[in-house]
Amino acid sequence: MTATATLAKPEPATTGFDPEALRADFPALHQEIHGHPLTFLDNAASSQRPNAVIDEIARFDRNDYANIHRGVHELSQRATKAYEGARDKIRQYINARDRKEIIFVRGTTEAINLVASSFVRPSLNLGDEIALTTMEHHSNIVPWQMACRERGAVVRVAPINDRGELELEELEKLLTPRTKLLTLVHVSNALGTINPVKEIVAMAHERGIPVLLDGAQAIPHMRVDMQDLDCDFYAFSSHKMFGPTGVGVLYGKKELLEAMAPYQGGGDMISVVTFEKTFYAGLPAKFEAGTPNITGGVGLGAAIDYLEQLDWDGAVAHENELLRYGTERLSEIPEVRLIGTANRKASVLSFVVDGVHPHDIGTILDREGVAVRAGHHCAQPVMQRFSVPATTRASLAFYNTKEDVDALIRALRKTIEVFK
Ligand code: ALA
Repeated sequence: MTATATLAKPEPATTGFDPEALRADFPALHQEIHGHPLTFLDNAASSQRPNAVIDEIARFDRNDYANIHRGVHELSQRATKAYEGARDKIRQYINARDRKEIIFVRGTTEAINLVASSFVRPSLNLGDEIALTTMEHHSNIVPWQMACRERGAVVRVAPINDRGELELEELEKLLTPRTKLLTLVHVSNALGTINPVKEIVAMAHERGIPVLLDGAQAIPHMRVDMQDLDCDFYAFSSHKMFGPTGVGVLYGKKELLEAMAPYQGGGDMISVVTFEKTFYAGLPAKFEAGTPNITGGVGLGAAIDYLEQLDWDGAVAHENELLRYGTERLSEIPEVRLIGTANRKASVLSFVVDGVHPHDIGTILDREGVAVRAGHHCAQPVMQRFSVPATTRASLAFYNTKEDVDALIRALRKTIEVFK
């Protein structure tokens, strides 16, 4: 079957957005792989970092690095200022009300586990339900299964249609007085579907149900606004938004975070410790036990500075146009079937090829200098839904170009010839 392009009509490209100029900011893009210029189309796994981030990390480590919150000495003060400054930048970037709502974590996975442990588990009882969707990443499935197994609660799953869109009426039916939390992905990593999360949050709130959004794949492709979305929690990772690995953010509404018990115990999350009783620190320190990824936080702050000066209207229009173009070009190849053809999609071209395993495709594409991901993308239920073991996934960022898509198509056609 050849997939048809079902994408929303692209907005006209904004004059002035120049991906070629932006590429100059990303040194890793300018190299040869196996004798070919690198075509980097694995951004959903991890995006590349601009010089501004690489340089700020090196500058910080060379000049200002020390442990934070603990020292009266100059370096500790400088490091604390940089780290806490990054928290302020994140608050502003996602339009959270209060810097106390920004909790530094290792990444999206830890953010979700924190909510599972500290928000849901303590009040999860026999017969309670956690609602999620078929298109969740394993990190938004397994923590809920673990919590439910322990408490005799149940995970309920909203289905998706053949285009990879959420069936909203079915989701609505799952929301009952037993539902303790609705948790879902903002943009699917395996399908690219953009879920109508604002409407879904409102639907859940009408029933008094709190909502966690997994924003890992949304935040590199659009501006998100916590006050506008009105979600209760939002999780994302630095390394998918042009920052370093090992750091991410849990946004949570202050009143919820304040009522929650700490996730981990240790240094920095206390105000007084005696063997009789420990008093916890206030937000956000309460959830940040131990020495954090200090350099990572500062690097994420630098990534936010970079993204703040990006022409976002231009970037979104450019990515939409690339997605439309890639969908059209892939649809011209009879052996290709696109997995995920939602009307509202972001930056993911996931596909299978008749008679060729995705891992073979990924390996041969690599020999042509084209980096994609092949596998189940940590979303095995999506693979089961579409009855495929795995897909090949090309995932875009604003620094990709039509030439990148052409290189993918050329290499893919070559691969298909090899297996004929
Ligand atoms: N979750 C990442 C991906 O989709 C690793 O590839």
